[in-house]
Amino acid sequence: MSDQQNTILGLKLPTDPRWVNLAEMSLQDILTDHAYCEQKAASNCISLIQRYPQHQRLVDELAPIVTEEWGHFRMVLSELNKRKLSLGKQRKDLYVNELMTNMQKGGHPDDRLLDQLLIFALIEARSCERFRLMSEELEDEYLRNFYRKFMISEAGHYRLFLDLAKTYLPHEKVKKRWKEWLLIEKEILENMEIRGDRMH
Ligand SMILES: [Fe+2]
Ligand SMILES: [Fe+2]
Repeated sequence: MSDQQNTILGLKLPTDPRWVNLAEMSLQDILTDHAYCEQKAASNCISLIQRYPQHQRLVDELAPIVTEEWGHFRMVLSELNKRKLSLGKQRKDLYVNELMTNMQKGGHPDDRLLDQLLIFALIEARSCERFRLMSEELEDEYLRNFYRKFMISEAGHYRLFLDLAKTYLPHEKVKKRWKEWLLIEKEILENMEIRGDRMH
């Protein structure tokens, strides 16, 4: 793949297509990991609301997303239950941890807000990209439709986080830092092994 090639939502590195086949073979693990991703998405939105109560748009727009992400968690949980599978333990989230280590330390609080919003936008974008792969490539038609719903929803969240960034910071600054993040994310994924038991 050339460095110039863009994938959906501006992401710099398309997911290796082998990932879907691996995920398909470890459905319980991927459902478990996905369930925790949704749970974390809900709790991240709560944290942002707690950290930035002065930003009314952020509070108002993220409040319903908490409910939506929690609804996603419940959707995944019921898929596990339907298959008589248990939730299982939460794994270390290497991808998200790596993203977090690239956050700006110190500096102006607005720059930290920017990084937080852009990291969440990235996670949504990458999740959306992977849900799309699943919605297109999985053998099981039911599961293809199941993941399609997440793909659509996470694409909306990706846009919301970017919009929120532009609400509180100058557009040029958001654009510049977003470009940097896209490259950081590409590098992180390049250095991670492809595993079918993880969403990222
Ligand atoms: Fe979600
Ligand atoms: Fe989301």
